[in-house]
Amino acid sequence: MKKRILVSGGAGYIGSHVTVELLEAGYEVVVADNMSNCDRSGFEGVRQITGKEDIPFVEMDFCDAAAVERLFDEYRIDAVIHFAAFKAVGESVAEPIKYYRNNLTSLLNVLEAARSHGGCNILFSSSATVYGEAAELPVTEQSPRLPATSPYGNTKQICEDMLRDTVASDRSIRGIALRYFNPIGAHPSALIGELPRGVPNNLVPYITQTAIGKRSCLSIFGNDYPTPDGTCLRDYIDIVDLARAHVAAVTRMVEGRMKEDYEIFNVGTGRPVSVLELVSAFEQVNGLKLNYRFADRRPGDVVAIWADTSLANRELGWTARRTLAETLASAWAWEKHLAGR
Ligand code: UD1
Repeated sequence: MKKRILVSGGAGYIGSHVTVELLEAGYEVVVADNMSNCDRSGFEGVRQITGKEDIPFVEMDFCDAAAVERLFDEYRIDAVIHFAAFKAVGESVAEPIKYYRNNLTSLLNVLEAARSHGGCNILFSSSATVYGEAAELPVTEQSPRLPATSPYGNTKQICEDMLRDTVASDRSIRGIALRYFNPIGAHPSALIGELPRGVPNNLVPYITQTAIGKRSCLSIFGNDYPTPDGTCLRDYIDIVDLARAHVAAVTRMVEGRMKEDYEIFNVGTGRPVSVLELVSAFEQVNGLKLNYRFADRRPGDVVAIWADTSLANRELGWTARRTLAETLASAWAWEKHLAGR
């Protein structure tokens, strides 16, 4: 019997790409989303890419405990990939209660439903933000987690702990936390991608919106950092590579190949890229000039972070494959697709 994966937040940016890769790997998928930060186009794109018209979709809020229980009653679930969460760092500072309520309650409801249904495998969508400004680079999974600098970052740490402690107390539940570095780009079909609401906070959507003329000028936040060109260093991971890491992790869980009942993996490329390098690569790959200026540092930014990916490479049998050029071409193709629809 095919294994069935529940993808909470499955209509969003990462969730839609993961759903495609799961279906292409032969899994059955149930997509659930409250559509609070996306529209139907992500799910429609998944159907188009995979040619599957009958993917179960449930519009529901994971903060509704009874609805989560009903979902587990209705479907036999072999693993949950839990994306449903808010993710804007600045908004979390302004509205912490909203972030704590949504991000913690939704995971609690998944954990409770997993317990009341005889156990489950749970993959949690975490972030490199848990490492803060790391003293040693690249960061390994053993690098210390530093105090979070935003309520958003704190919810990631607390959710990791909620999963770890639940796994420790209940042998029927296993968990993996994937710590993403900076996911960017879009599916090569350009049918799914990131859909930022309003002014983008993240670099790549801001770049593509500037290139298409929706924004007049990209501000590069800080050019006096202690890095080779003065701009921050990040580990930009292609969204399809990131999605493939989820398939590898879920397969490890459902095939019973985990070495511990709770495991953590960094998901990045292991390659630091500066903001200026990213901008130049985008210009070169797509044959255009970007209007940008240097601006003040953005409060809360870390200077540099990139991943040691050797654990994920070895244990998940996964490595990032797409080049930065391919990824930046896909981001631009997606922006042009959006402009044309
Ligand atoms: C942030 C979050 C991270 C989250 C990720 C995806 C923190 C500290 N970081 O990562 O947890 O997973 O978003 O939502 O919580 N930049 C510019 N101009 C812009 C936008 C960004 O110069 O208009 C620069 C930033 O200063 C930074 C780099 O680009 O150096 C990447 O920024 P961004 O895409 O926002 O990601 P992070 O802040 O690294």
